[in-house]
Amino acid sequence: MDTRPQENEAPSDLWSEAYKIPWHEKGFSRRMLAWHLSQDTDLASRRAERIDAHVAWIHETCLNRRPSNILDICCGPGLYLLRLTKLGHRGLGLDFGPASIEYATAQNPSPDVTFTLADVTTAEFGSGYDFAMMIYGEFNVFPPEAIRGVMRKANTALEPGGILTLEPQTLACVEAAGRAPGESSEHPDGGLFSDGPHSVIVTNRWDEGHRVSVSEYVVREDGGESRYRIVNQAYTQDEIGGILSSAGFSGIEFHASFGADDDDYFWTVTATKPE
Ligand SMILES: C[S@@+](CC[C@H](N)C(=O)[O-])C[C@H]1O[C@@H](n2cnc3c(N)ncnc32)[C@H](O)[C@@H]1O
Repeated sequence: MDTRPQENEAPSDLWSEAYKIPWHEKGFSRRMLAWHLSQDTDLASRRAERIDAHVAWIHETCLNRRPSNILDICCGPGLYLLRLTKLGHRGLGLDFGPASIEYATAQNPSPDVTFTLADVTTAEFGSGYDFAMMIYGEFNVFPPEAIRGVMRKANTALEPGGILTLEPQTLACVEAAGRAPGESSEHPDGGLFSDGPHSVIVTNRWDEGHRVSVSEYVVREDGGESRYRIVNQAYTQDEIGGILSSAGFSGIEFHASFGADDDDYFWTVTATKPE
């Protein structure tokens, strides 16, 4: 099916086909895991040094160093929750990348922590959490109605007084992604999209009307062609606040990136489920 972005696409069309790269596919997930773990790039997950700093901020600022029950929504290979486990916390990590969940499970030292393969738009989150988090920009990569649903489920899963920490992409970050020049690359020894030789052509588009960026990937291999896209919804801080309020949160605050002001592309947002 042709998933090429069309000019003036209606919002429902923007989100009607596959709107993410195939994180959930086995081979793609295996290849992506190498990017999550790489110390040469911050793609997919940040490098260890920055994750250590973020985890210290969460432990001190959000959890007040008290052993807590944590829900990590879109946990990837568990790089945050595994560190928090070592600081005495417990919890559940959810992700639909099979290689990520296998890695996190293999690294997990605690019987009080579980990593589960699940699509967070449909999974049950359970209840009794002191803290929930969604880290590294995934907030914007869901259709607005889907992220509203995920936020409502996070609110239900938290205990009264529980804290949510989110890391949405800034509006400028999403717009920059849409306005970035296209690029093409050759991967004779395999790459993210295939183990075999392939080429990738990326085109980007910023849809000012819907404040959405669309990146389309055309992957050519063995005379065949596959297409993928990433759709990112841009939000103002007020809009994010509105989504969180209608999901039942209060005390919504925007912080410099994990208190460190070292990343202009993401906002760190905290919110509380009222007592
Ligand atoms: C940018 S990575 C961030 C991973 C992790 N939070 C971190 O910072 O290391 C985004 C993650 O979201 C996961 N993801 C995206 N959509 C999902 C969905 N609908 N259900 C579950 N996981 C999802 C991907 O598999 C990927 O691991």
